[in-house]
Amino acid sequence: METLMEVGYLVALVCFVLGIKGMSDPATSNRGNLVLALGMGLAVLVTLFLPGLSNLPYILGSLVLGSVIGLRMSGQAKMTEMPQMVSLLNGFGGLAAALVALAEVVDLLYGEGLLRLLTQTSGMGSMGSYYLVFYIVTLMISLSVGGISFTGSVFAMAKLDGKVSGQPIRFPMQGLVTNGLLFAQVLLIVGMILAPTYAEPMVYLLFVLSLVYGVLFVMPIGGADMPVVISFLNSLTGLTAATTGLLFDNRAMLMGGVLVGASGVYLTVLMCKAMNRTLGAVLLGQFNASGGGAGREMNGQIREIGTYDAAVLLAYSSRVVVVPGYGMAVAQAQHPMHELEKLLVSKGVQCRYAIHPVAGRMPGHMNVLLAEADVSYDLLLEMEAINPEFPQTDVVVVVGANDVVNPAAETDPGSPVYGMPILKAYQAKNIIVIKRSMAAGYAGVENELFYDPKTRMLFGDAKAVLSELIQAVKGL
Ligand code: TAP
Repeated sequence: METLMEVGYLVALVCFVLGIKGMSDPATSNRGNLVLALGMGLAVLVTLFLPGLSNLPYILGSLVLGSVIGLRMSGQAKMTEMPQMVSLLNGFGGLAAALVALAEVVDLLYGEGLLRLLTQTSGMGSMGSYYLVFYIVTLMISLSVGGISFTGSVFAMAKLDGKVSGQPIRFPMQGLVTNGLLFAQVLLIVGMILAPTYAEPMVYLLFVLSLVYGVLFVMPIGGADMPVVISFLNSLTGLTAATTGLLFDNRAMLMGGVLVGASGVYLTVLMCKAMNRTLGAVLLGQFNASGGGAGREMNGQIREIGTYDAAVLLAYSSRVVVVPGYGMAVAQAQHPMHELEKLLVSKGVQCRYAIHPVAGRMPGHMNVLLAEADVSYDLLLEMEAINPEFPQTDVVVVVGANDVVNPAAETDPGSPVYGMPILKAYQAKNIIVIKRSMAAGYAGVENELFYDPKTRMLFGDAKAVLSELIQAVKGL
């Protein structure tokens, strides 16, 4: 039986690795997701056969309840709400890992007589006690990190969802309070070893402090930075699960945790790189604080274009590149966009999409939206691939994008977006920008592309404007 279980865990691990690999390409991502779910299902199934497992009815009941809630949630969540959902689920992962650590540490203290052992050896006696100290410290770290990940993720979700202000929340002596709370947690872990008689209240206090710290940690971070923070918290949850798996000698949990932790860190680094920011700056909420270049005077004037003229320009072009951005997600304009693209292609126009790595508000946001609208993957070009082609492009249609095409990233060292790699739409022969107003994007800065003599603004909600454009092109 034991060998069978080992094989079951091994197959689950292979599924995790293959599933993650599948997720790296839009064409295989659905299959990758399915393989990951199968692997997780198998790991759960194998765990049910662990020797000495009690309370089976409760476990099965929770499994059924959790699955029903999960199914309902995924069915109802809108694409634009995905970051919130990921954050919430990640928070529950952190909470689960923290509760496992809490139950284990309390059980060890009393059930296994660890408290007695620690007290007898004054925490630092024999070689055996060194292992105990290591074991208990690791559990306490799991408890703390899991707690931070839980409340941090839930608070991040509330910020993204607009339930609390998306702006950085600051109060006097915030740094002192936040860092003090972190230091207090370290003291409690050390205190548990040195004064084990007070271990129990210290464990509970540590858990409470970690929950409070999670909220304080996320407070100063701007709402739109949440995807980076969520990814970071996700890696923390992975780390907690890996630590717990190590302590319980559960390979599936250990490897699953390592994969989540490593991919979370990687994704965090990639997002920071694509925004030209350091993780430290994101976590300290320095983005909005910098604000340099935000109020820069713009030269030139705004030129508008009507739907008919835009339709003529597009229909009689040879090469069109669409730059989708956050506004397309807000307007849910991916379907009319695809329809317009098909219409242009039927008129002999080459029409492709330029995908910036941080367009929208979550990794792969544009890919997911366009895939939902059945846009062919071959038409999606990454930034490095499309940038050299802009000078030969007749028209760039910017659909609800702003920061990712802002030339200030190359020209204005004072701008918060300076240094961020951008889609070089400004090099195209004509640029049509579809957005509702002259409002700034996520970075809160003016965009000189809108004042470029080659640019025409087509104001309105992206979905409505694109629908009108379709009619206009059809009528030509
Ligand atoms: P943004 O710079 O945020 O600009 C979006 C634009 O869409 C706005 O200027 C807005 O202008 C317009 N818009 C909003 N609703 C619209 C609607 N219904 N119809 C038409 N337009 C609409 O978007 P972006 O260019 O995609 O850049 C993404 C930004 O988010 C970057 O700064 C990036 O660093 C940041 N970010 C991205 C991620 C990831 S992982 N993707 C994570 C964190 C932060 P109006 O209000 O005038 O319409």
